Amino acid sequence: MNHFISIDQLTNQQIFNLIVNAEKYKKGKNDNIPKQLFAANLFFEPSTRTKMSFAVAERKLGLEVLDFHAEESSIQKGESLFDTVKTFESIGANVAIIRHRSDDWFTELESGINIPIINAGAGKREHPTQCMLDLLTIYEEFGRLEDLNVVIVGDIKHSRVAKSNAHALERLGAKVYLSAAPGYEDESLDYPYVSLDEATQFCDVVMLLRIQHERHEEIYETSSYLTKYGLTIDRERKMKQHAIILHPAPINRGVEIDGDLVECGRSRIFKQMKNGVYMRMAILTHVLNEWGSIDENSIKEC
Ligand code: NCD
Repeated sequence: MNHFISIDQLTNQQIFNLIVNAEKYKKGKNDNIPKQLFAANLFFEPSTRTKMSFAVAERKLGLEVLDFHAEESSIQKGESLFDTVKTFESIGANVAIIRHRSDDWFTELESGINIPIINAGAGKREHPTQCMLDLLTIYEEFGRLEDLNVVIVGDIKHSRVAKSNAHALERLGAKVYLSAAPGYEDESLDYPYVSLDEATQFCDVVMLLRIQHERHEEIYETSSYLTKYGLTIDRERKMKQHAIILHPAPINRGVEIDGDLVECGRSRIFKQMKNGVYMRMAILTHVLNEWGSIDENSIKEC
């Protein structure tokens, strides 16, 4: 049985099944899991959207939500991540949703933890549930992923969103381009780099990223970032008519994007957040079903 750790673990068919199921939830499919199951949201890094959209998804499915605040927990007394998760397993959690600043926190949990784990962010390496909601948003827009030109723009080196998305989009047939300020390219990703001025002219999707200051060793000065590397109104005007803007948020208005573009006609940023709830409902039922915690046929439609 698989934990939900990396987008690379999913087959293309599984990715499309999740998209279809998320769309069903979005259209009003209202499932209720008939037995009492507990979901533990274990966030060791700040989060607004991911944590809260998991909580909404869990409640919509009828799961009991176990909230956790790392700063008030026994982590402060020296307890390890493994022992924290083992504790939740022991007291009856049926699934653990984990975000942690380490790139590979899951390796110590993969054997020895007997409830499914969903990766809600691993350092600068993986963010599979964000990637899945991004895929859903792109798919809803274009009805396909194949042959779309997608540029991922920003602090590629320190972004887990960039890595999960680049791999998944390429595998699903999109053409992936990267655009970064000098020093923020990532050597592990083998995709062409383009300037944002070039990219806006041919890309269907412009996926912006926040500068990941919390992962930098030195303070990065941002006063000229927007004009040099960000999405200004001038660059937005050059985008193809049907092209869309994505951003996983949080947004730093006036840095990676002109503040006036956040809610512009081609922005899908708040749609991404909304889609996050439905995609996380689909992921939770997929994982709980795989682990035998629920039988999809027994889920009651309300
Ligand atoms: C992203 C993350 O945590 O990696 N946020 C999110 O989950 N929506 C992006 C970011 O923090 O910039």
